[in-house]
Order: sequence, then structure tokens, then C-alpha cells
Amino acid sequence: MCGIVGYIGHRPAYEILIKGLHRLEYRGYDSAGVAMVGDKGDLNIYKTRGKVEDLERFCHAKDLDGNIGIAHTRWATHGEPNDVNAHPHLSHSGKLALVHNGTIENYNILKEALEQQGCKFKSDTDTEVLVQLIEYIKTTNNCTLIEAVREALKEVIGAYAIAVIDTNEPDTVIAARKSSPLVIGIGEDETFLASDATPIVDYTDKVVYLNDDEIAIIRRGEPLKIITTDNESAEIDIQTLKLSVSQLEKGGFPHFMLKEIYEQPRTIRDCVRGRIGNSGGKVTLSGVIEHSDKFLNAKRIIIVACGTSWHAGLIGKRLIEEATRIPVEVAYASEFRYSNPIVTPDDIVIAISQSGETADTLAAIQLAKEKGAFVYGVCNVVGSSIARATDSGTYIHVGPEIGVASTKAFTGQVTVLIMLAMAIAQIRKTMPKEEITKVAGYLRRLPDLIKQTLKLNDKIEHLSSIYTYVHNFLYLGRGYNYPSALEGALKLKEISYIHAEGYPAAEMKHGPIALIDRELPTVVIAPTDELHEKIISNIQQIKARGGSVIAVVTKGDTSIAEIADHTIEIPDVPECVSPVIVSIPLQLLAYHIAVKKGCNVDMPRNLAKSVTVE
Ligand code: AGP
Ligand code: GLU
Repeated sequence: MCGIVGYIGHRPAYEILIKGLHRLEYRGYDSAGVAMVGDKGDLNIYKTRGKVEDLERFCHAKDLDGNIGIAHTRWATHGEPNDVNAHPHLSHSGKLALVHNGTIENYNILKEALEQQGCKFKSDTDTEVLVQLIEYIKTTNNCTLIEAVREALKEVIGAYAIAVIDTNEPDTVIAARKSSPLVIGIGEDETFLASDATPIVDYTDKVVYLNDDEIAIIRRGEPLKIITTDNESAEIDIQTLKLSVSQLEKGGFPHFMLKEIYEQPRTIRDCVRGRIGNSGGKVTLSGVIEHSDKFLNAKRIIIVACGTSWHAGLIGKRLIEEATRIPVEVAYASEFRYSNPIVTPDDIVIAISQSGETADTLAAIQLAKEKGAFVYGVCNVVGSSIARATDSGTYIHVGPEIGVASTKAFTGQVTVLIMLAMAIAQIRKTMPKEEITKVAGYLRRLPDLIKQTLKLNDKIEHLSSIYTYVHNFLYLGRGYNYPSALEGALKLKEISYIHAEGYPAAEMKHGPIALIDRELPTVVIAPTDELHEKIISNIQQIKARGGSVIAVVTKGDTSIAEIADHTIEIPDVPECVSPVIVSIPLQLLAYHIAVKKGCNVDMPRNLAKSVTVE
């Protein structure tokens, strides 16, 4: 959460910083600010509550001089979103400015100590403590900015990615990280820094990912230097970005979310490319092949994730258990990390994360590693903290997902989990070859099947006008599609603010049935499968109580069409692949309802794409 950008070079910093903030706005958007060291060595700092466009308006006709600067788009953790709490924060003397992503857990103790020394605080944030502490150390120890930053970070407990500038050292930016991401872009006589590579990609493809406890010293005209908080010099590993600017734009769609929904035929093709043979059914995942002994000997698999990724994990459990007979548990990363979990070296922990930066998932990985488990990642963002913290893994390769509501990442995660289940089954010989060949065939056809499913868009848009103003929604599904119901409900609530609950269809009679009346529509996910008859009974029970039903059914299923109010027909696919197809109409339904309600679907209130705080 929160996006940080920094620049030092020969171009006007303001434009680079603002463009970068727009790219990072998915990370937080309650307030924003910039600080530039002006040509006369003064600090030009502007910040305001609201989005980056509000900041731009605020900066209009102001002094925006300088080719060194830092900027921030905030997702508040400490202190309400207002002008004062917006970053950058200034030190007591006004000479140091700092932006921060993360949380400082011991900020209260530090704040009290600094106040006793005469420091005056302006904001309610934890961040301001950092900049005041750095200045205090710098003044009392009479040391350089870098020494003061290093000393200050030793005092701090918590998570941070920071960037600091100082008018006394106008040609330097100091950046540091612990648990929050930071990427440095190396250009010709210019250096960029940002929370992820998206603000950098327009200018250079050479990047360095800062590691925990590292401090970057970026000086004009000097090569990048990285030291650790223990003052040892660290290796600089320059990597080449594989990201294009066009991937970061809306490409003619009104919202990133709709673009990302429509991209799915291509993203799923990219996801399976090179992993499923063109003919025959062999699944090749290099991470599994390289560690085949681990997968052969695993006694148990534990999946850790949050939100949508956790829903994908629930589908993964079913897939892996069916295909490999290895028992699988699925845990919310936030619960797992504080539950003193039983994890042994015979366990494999699979961490699923689109962003690869989710703080709880990262902490769960660290815990699992301490307990000796082999940790396998299923991530989207290449080079992200989780991708680097895991022992091995499989990227979902769906490209940058910018809409806060996860869509193409979910289908990519499920697709990787299908392949993972089959890859493990190949090693353990637990699934007949013909079965693998059949599922592999469907995976190859998935892009076309998704394309067909996207044709439902107009029908779903029409449906969305019927249900725009309801206050509650119920989503029901069974088996593989119980997690699809959870995911459908999450999609709707996060972007339309309509309360929605997902339930296993058969559980309805144990409680939620009490909610059914004319005001409560239910989405029933009912493709033709083993439990089809049972789900028809569930629909009857809803209809008998006056509820309306939107049923997602297999093409040609007339039995449900007779009783449901509306049916959405999807192509016929095997059960284990169906969550990918089912999710398409559910994404579209949430999208159209939210748009009709006038909600900001790409940046829903209170949410952020990358949850780097607990
Ligand atoms: C998805 O629509 C949500 N915005 C959210 O639940 C998300 O899936 C969760 O925060 C996990 O993120 P990750 O996959 O990047 O770890
Ligand atoms: N803790 C800081 C604040 O509230 C930064 C928040 C974040 O990175 O999410 O301003």
C-alpha cells in the first residue's frame, strides 16, 4: 500500500514523479504529494487529500522546479487521509523530506522521546517519526544523511520502504527497505526509484530490486551504491525488465478492470504457453521438475494466501487432492502466521499472490521456511518480494493487473493450480495419463472457451440494470464452484459496495435461507456436474420463498432455465476447469452493476491493490 516514486537526473522531476504516481495509484489513493529540491536548493513541497489528479490541480501554476524529487500516493494506516497527513513529511527544520510505505510499530515510543527533545510534530502519522528521528540523529551526531538514515533504521520496528531528500545534500536521494518493496531504475545519468517497476519502464529497462535491510545511496553523477543497515556494501544485481508501456494503459477500454476481463483469452494462452504440450498431455512446470524429490515425498501441502488468491487456493486444494491424493490445507496467511502452525520439513507450503507483496503472505512464507518447509510460489509480478522469498514457483504470466479487483490474475492462478496438480500427479503417478491428456486438451482450448463466454457481456449488462440497486446478494455454488461463489461475492462487494455472501449451496438451508425474500437475488453456479440435481433442489427452495435466481448453467441445460429467473449459459467443460469459465460472467456482473451505480471500479473506496501492511 502506498506508492513511492523518486527521481534524480537531468529532466524536470515533477513530470516523472506525477506520471509515476498515476501508475502506482492502484496501491493507494487517499492523498498524494511531491517534494522537489528546486534549482536554488530550496524544497518545493505540495500535498493534498484526494487522488493524484487532485494533486496535479493543486500544483498548477506553482513552482515545480528541480530535477530531483520524491513523491507518494497514500493508503492511510496512521492518521486520517488529509492534507497534513499526506506524504512527503518534513523534518523539524524543514530541510529533510521523506516518503514512506509501510508501518512503524514503535512510533509512539520514538515520538514521545523526540518530543521530549523538543521536536514538534504536525501530523498523526507514524511516518513523521522517521524523518524527525533522522534529522535528530543527523544533528546530534553531526553526521551525513546516509549515516543518520542507517542509525535511525536501527531504532525502528516495522515495515518500510522510504526515500529521503535533504536540501543540505541536494544531489542525493537515500532509499531503504524492509518488508515493503522498492525498485531502482538505472538510466543514462539518471536514476529512478519506485514501489514497483511501472513508473520506471518508460525510461529504462535496467532495474535493481532492493532487498530487506538494504540502503541505496543515489547520487547525481555517481554509480548506485547499496549498503546494508550493518554498513556492509551489498551486491548490485542489475536485471532487465520484461514489461511494456502498452501493458500499463487502458487500450481503449473505459476501465482497467474491463480491459483485464477481456484480456483473459490472451493471458490464459500466455499462462499455459510452453507448459502444456501441443499434442499429448504432458505438463511441464520447471519448478516442479527441478524439485521433483520434494513433490514426490511431500506428506502434506499447505496453501497460504489472502483474498482472491485464497479463493484460488481453495480450488487448488480440491485439484491437488483429487489429482495427487496429498492432503492439502488452505489457510488465510494472516491466520496462519499467528497460529503457531504445525509445519514440518515434509510439508510443501504453496504461497499464492498476484502482487507478490502481500505482507501477511510474505510473513507466512518466512514462518514456513523457519520451520523447514519447502515453499513454492504462485505469483504474477516477476521479481516481487514473494517470488524472491520462495524456494521455487510458477509465474502466472498474466501481465500487470491494475484494476484493484482481481480478475485475470484469479483465472491465471486457477490455471496454474490445474497445471500444478497435474504436474505433481505425473511425478507421483496418481492420475491416469488419459485423464491428464483430457484436462490438458481443455487447458489448450481455454482461451477460445473464454472468448465464447465473453460474448455474454451484453446479456449481463442488461441483467445488471435489473439488479443495480439491490442491497444484498447471495452466491451459491458446490464443489469446485463453492470458491467461485465466494469469489463472485467478493468481486461484487469490493467494487459496487453491495453486501454479498458466498456459500456452499447445500449450506443455505442451515441459515442463509432465512434471508431469502423478494429483495434478495441469488446467483447460483450450477453447471452440469455430479451434484446438478441437488443444486436444482436448492434453486427450488429459493423460488418457493419468493427469491429471484440468476443461474450460471451449462449451455443447453433447459431444466434450470424453467425455474430460474435468468440463466447465463457457459460452455461445457470438465468440473475441474469450470471455475475459470464460471468466473467470467461473475466478473462482468460485478463490473456492470458497479459502473451503473457510478462507482469507481478501478479504485474502489478504502481498498488498495497491494496490501503491504498487516
Ligand atoms: C482481489 O479482488 C482483492 N482486491 C484482494 O482480495 C486480493 O486478492 C488480496 O489482497 C491478495 O492480494 P495478492 O494476490 O496480491 O496477494
Ligand atoms: N503508515 C504510513 C501512513 O499512514 C504509510 C502507509 C502505507 O504505506 O500504507 O501514512
